[in-house]
Amino acid sequence: MEKFYITTPIFYVNDKPHLGHAYTMLLADCIARFKRMRGADVFFLTGTDEHGEKIETAATAKGLNPKEFVDSISIQFKNAWEKLNISNDYFIRTTDKNHEDTVKKTLIKLYNKGDIYKGTYEGWYCVSCEAYYDDNEIKAGKCPMCGKNVVRKKEESYFFKMSKYEKQLREWLSEDHLIPEYRKNEMINFFKDGLKDLSITRNNIKWGIKAPFDETHTVYVWFDALLNYLSAIGYPDENFGHYWPADVQIMGKDIARFHAIYWPTFLFALDLKTPEKMITTNWWISGKEKMSKSIGNIVDPLNFADTYGLDQLRYYLLKEMTYGGDANFNEKDFIQTINNDLAEELGNLLNRTMVMNEKYFNSEIPKPEKQDLKETADKTVKNFLDLMEAYQIDRALKEIWVLVRECNRYVNEKKPWGNEEERGTIVYNLIEGLRIISVLLEPFMPVKAVEIRSQLGVKNHSFEWSGSTKGKNGARTLLFPKIDA
Ligand code: MSP
Repeated sequence: MEKFYITTPIFYVNDKPHLGHAYTMLLADCIARFKRMRGADVFFLTGTDEHGEKIETAATAKGLNPKEFVDSISIQFKNAWEKLNISNDYFIRTTDKNHEDTVKKTLIKLYNKGDIYKGTYEGWYCVSCEAYYDDNEIKAGKCPMCGKNVVRKKEESYFFKMSKYEKQLREWLSEDHLIPEYRKNEMINFFKDGLKDLSITRNNIKWGIKAPFDETHTVYVWFDALLNYLSAIGYPDENFGHYWPADVQIMGKDIARFHAIYWPTFLFALDLKTPEKMITTNWWISGKEKMSKSIGNIVDPLNFADTYGLDQLRYYLLKEMTYGGDANFNEKDFIQTINNDLAEELGNLLNRTMVMNEKYFNSEIPKPEKQDLKETADKTVKNFLDLMEAYQIDRALKEIWVLVRECNRYVNEKKPWGNEEERGTIVYNLIEGLRIISVLLEPFMPVKAVEIRSQLGVKNHSFEWSGSTKGKNGARTLLFPKIDA
């Protein structure tokens, strides 16, 4: 059985989850569900990133000790993903003992190998991004990534000899690992003047894992966090390797450099394989800016799921976000998409088909003379599978609508109500078309997909057109109620 290891970033627990985070999870969930449907042995990992200055400061601001604080937020992420029907196999916390042990053991390995040395860090630090910057990276005294204030630092620190792995990193980046591909140059550009060694400990931050070779230092939060992808599958135990390397790692563009530069060099140093693919996602914008708590423009995904339906939200987010650029979250658009794509184009198609079958064939699925929609369905399935395998998720979803629209065109053209001769064939083709649509939709809208098949009264969930689907339609309910705009 093919194994498939997929990861999301682990989320900072400085605040509750928002729609941008939810999107990241939905994308991973959709891919994981698809791979399971294809028969893979999937391990889908997510979790929370709980150490470092950013979290320490957030805890202090609430008057809580950091552990109490992270416990209270981490659970909110866990609960939110359950509510959004996310099918992760594991939820890691960087405060888990096994993760902390992995980080320590890994550091000892690198230390013994001679890849860690003591020095002094001098430069800029952005607490919000937990990132180090050089003078030439700072923009008008602010963080080039998030635009917030940076602080000048000069402190004793242990360094990882990242520079040693520059050649390997360049080679790796030149291969086809990043999706979309244009990020490759962006990454290479980050070290156009050469790859520098990386400061991997802080000596003035308490809330973190203690460096095993010097307990007055805590481990830099990104070094700690990236290792979650290994600790979750048991590294460095001997038989940890079943799922490694990761098949696909998902992350936002803001944290691409940590994943596409730092992370591979850690793996080179540990003599481990590197991930197959990294998907870097764009941002959800609200108003004019990236959705984020500090800007105060966040949208709560759980409220929207409650108000408009969970699968409706999953559909909208997965359709609207592309590799082309940032996406704007807009409630009006969302409602329009539900009414148009889901209620009118898909829901109404199902409803019409069921009503006709009830009226003319007592809800028994008729026998067809011809397989009119087979060709379009086969083509849609092929395109869909190719796009999904290439992680072109929004395009795969839009491809399903080729078949939805063809079904609508077909019924309008054939007019089965006045076409007694072909009526059975037409209704059959619509039912089988809808069955295929439901199968393709399953990774995107898992609940509605099953509901479509249960209304149709069919269980077959193969991607292949079947010329002989039998049975009796089940109860008819409104799949996607229209929303008053
Ligand atoms: N803790 C780090 C990741 C460590 S992974 C070893 C982190 N956490 S985060 O909570 O700030 O962000 C988690 C993910 O959410 C990132 O991929 C980030 O890009 C994504 N998003 C945060 N805001 C977002 C939007 N407004 N839109 C889309 N995704 C965004 O970074």
